[in-house]
Amino acid sequence: MLETETLDVERIRADFPILRRKVRGKRLVYLDNAATTQKPRQVIEALDDYYSRYNSNVHRSVHTLGEEATEAYEASRKKTATFIGATPKELVFVRGTTEATNLVRFAWGEKFVKKGDLVLTTMMEHHSNIVPWQLLCKNKGATLKFVGLNPDCTLDLASFEGLLKEGPRLVAFTHCSNVLGTINDVSALCAKAATAGATTIVDGAQAVPHMAVDVGSLGCDFYAFSGHKMLGPTGIGGLYGRRALLEEMEPFHGGGEMIREVFLDHSTWNDVPYKFEAGTVNIADSIGLGAAVDYLTALGMDKVREHEVRLLKYALSELAKVKGFRHYGPEDPSKKGGVLSFNMADVHPHDLATILDEEGIAIRSGHHCAQPLMRWLDVSATSRASFHVYNSHDDVDALRAGLEKAGAIFRL
Ligand SMILES: Cc1ncc(COP(=O)(O)O)c(C=O)c1O
Repeated sequence: MLETETLDVERIRADFPILRRKVRGKRLVYLDNAATTQKPRQVIEALDDYYSRYNSNVHRSVHTLGEEATEAYEASRKKTATFIGATPKELVFVRGTTEATNLVRFAWGEKFVKKGDLVLTTMMEHHSNIVPWQLLCKNKGATLKFVGLNPDCTLDLASFEGLLKEGPRLVAFTHCSNVLGTINDVSALCAKAATAGATTIVDGAQAVPHMAVDVGSLGCDFYAFSGHKMLGPTGIGGLYGRRALLEEMEPFHGGGEMIREVFLDHSTWNDVPYKFEAGTVNIADSIGLGAAVDYLTALGMDKVREHEVRLLKYALSELAKVKGFRHYGPEDPSKKGGVLSFNMADVHPHDLATILDEEGIAIRSGHHCAQPLMRWLDVSATSRASFHVYNSHDDVDALRAGLEKAGAIFRL
């Protein structure tokens, strides 16, 4: 472990089989973690173990396999809930952040949002924290408004407070922007929204994987996140909801296991969170998520955050030396998640990503599912490098060298 490192990156890398592969004959430099992270062998083995040893449905069968599967599924819920400062009854397993916001749209929004109501979101949101509210507002005859941004890519608090005076029913915002990396002061925003009588939903897709999150101290009503961005499998994530809210909401999907009793003319509902988990759930991946939570917990989320801040600091200073480099987002690494969006002069981000791929470097290019934000930035797309626990200074050096090569190709 290098003295300058908070995490033992070499040891961590050894846990990720995919990092041993070569891409185009080069070492894989994986910098697309905001899209999805790689999986440690502990997660892969948890999936293998479930399918090899105790594959069975949960909450139904009294046989040994059924009991083992149920136990592992609920143990994972407990771990994941604890990881975000919630209790198991407050954590609904969903497919990911997108399903979580849509669950709130249907199960809460259809019941509680009325004609003429106001819903607030912000200009820095991923589409999954915009489109469900557009659909809800259209359906209910409500209005959707957007909190603006400051030139330094932070949330415009004057705009936020001004809109709160209009008495919104729901306020939806991200904990950490997937484009700018901006970290919002969730507890302050939630406290203000609560004083204005609004319900809050926070998109934690880019926060839970990278920093310690405690929904209790954040004071939000709902909090959404995705397992695949936190070293876990795809197809599993979480929706935290305040217990009282979950209790008064309508179900999301109807079917097996979400009911208490079914009659010909009506049904009654199971307890929360099962009321929202209809049909056969994603057993294997929820167990895999539990393994990812164990992995991150063992590293320590404060260390994970410190590691990323150091890396960001290094990346911001190194990449600023590249000709034509322009960064989008707060410049202070301590106010930013491990996401670095940039452009290089007028080189198209897709061209840049293709050239970097030749070097074995994976970054994302495009609109990052944040088209309103792209318009606000006045660009059609950006390139984005994003970090996780297995990234280190050598990855930043490789990125810098790749960008310089691209600069030479485009004669910048
Ligand atoms: C900030 C943010 N919110 C929501 C999402 C959607 O997550 P998922 O595709 O896992 O539902 C993403 C994914 O990129 C994201 O970065």
